[in-house]
Amino acid sequence: MLNSKINDIREKFLHEFKIAKDAKQIENLKIKYLGKKGLVQELMLFLKDATSEERPLLGKLINDLKQEITSHLENSIKRIALEEENSKVQNEYLDVTLPGRKHFWGKSHPVSLVLNKMIDIANSMGFSTETGPEVESDFYNFEALNFSKDHPARDMQDTFYITDDLLLRTHTSNIQVRVMEKFKPPIRCLAPGKCFRNENISSRSHVFFHQIELFYIDEHVTFSDLFATLDEFWFKLFNKKVETRYRPSYFPFVEPGVEADIKCFICSGQGCKVCKNSGWLEVVGAGMIHPNVLKAGGIDPEKYSGYAAGLGVERLAMLMYGINDIRMFTENDMRFLEQFSL
Ligand code: FA5
Repeated sequence: MLNSKINDIREKFLHEFKIAKDAKQIENLKIKYLGKKGLVQELMLFLKDATSEERPLLGKLINDLKQEITSHLENSIKRIALEEENSKVQNEYLDVTLPGRKHFWGKSHPVSLVLNKMIDIANSMGFSTETGPEVESDFYNFEALNFSKDHPARDMQDTFYITDDLLLRTHTSNIQVRVMEKFKPPIRCLAPGKCFRNENISSRSHVFFHQIELFYIDEHVTFSDLFATLDEFWFKLFNKKVETRYRPSYFPFVEPGVEADIKCFICSGQGCKVCKNSGWLEVVGAGMIHPNVLKAGGIDPEKYSGYAAGLGVERLAMLMYGINDIRMFTENDMRFLEQFSL
């Protein structure tokens, strides 16, 4: 009776084993036949009904069945693992002839390259670096710089106001009175930074750009000190003597005031859209610091005088690299940005 049960289970197993296809089904067979509550274990329960003569033989038959099933299942598990490995190797082959993937290395932005060079040059000429806030009070951006509340020159700098009294600075000149409040003359300072103006964007003007403010306050500072400093600065920046043109100009915080143009390298002075066909590109506003500004900074204008200049970094970068549209700096085109070094 137990004998035929053993044979039934063997046949049943062999049938189910034959049609099992994958590792999951083999695992299920293992649980079904060899598990703690599996069919082979169940057979053991019947041993107690056998006579003591029959028991050793039946016990051996059950053990043989257990080993037979175990050996079938283990071989199958090994075979399936090998097949899986082989198919992985087949499908995931490595093509060593494929060309490598291109990696993009981080590079300094051209505006940063020129800005840093300008800072290095100014430092080497004895100017030390100070920075001021981009979100600025009306006082430091305008009022302390001799722009009264209703001064018409405020219209020259289209301002992004945050509140009546708070704005995005329109120029780095906001640093001047801050520095005067902090230090006593002689002061030789440079202040780099971002500026914001609500202007129409064109090939040479943006709503967001960088300036470097340079100013020097001491006894007996003259207009010719300003020109000499700027000329030396251009020479160091471009590594050659560049043609410049100084024109009288008006800023409420200087008297007298000038604007400086550099002969346009992009068209060799022939005229292009960057220089508005004039052959010259305006790169700096400058002048002798107005006595009212010195007073606002707590400096006696009878004893001290000073010059100040605000240099446009993007415009200088355009000249340096021959870039004919300021918008390219902010378009983040990798093909453009990858090209620059100093
Ligand atoms: C000023 O901003 C004055 N603060 C400069 C100054 C400083 C005068 C100290 C006297 C004493 P201006 O608006 O001209 O001036 O700007 C100075 C330079 O910044 C310009 O020559 C130009 O190179 C650059 N710049 C001005 N507006 C823009 C703009 N929208 N986009 C790009 N560059 C600009």
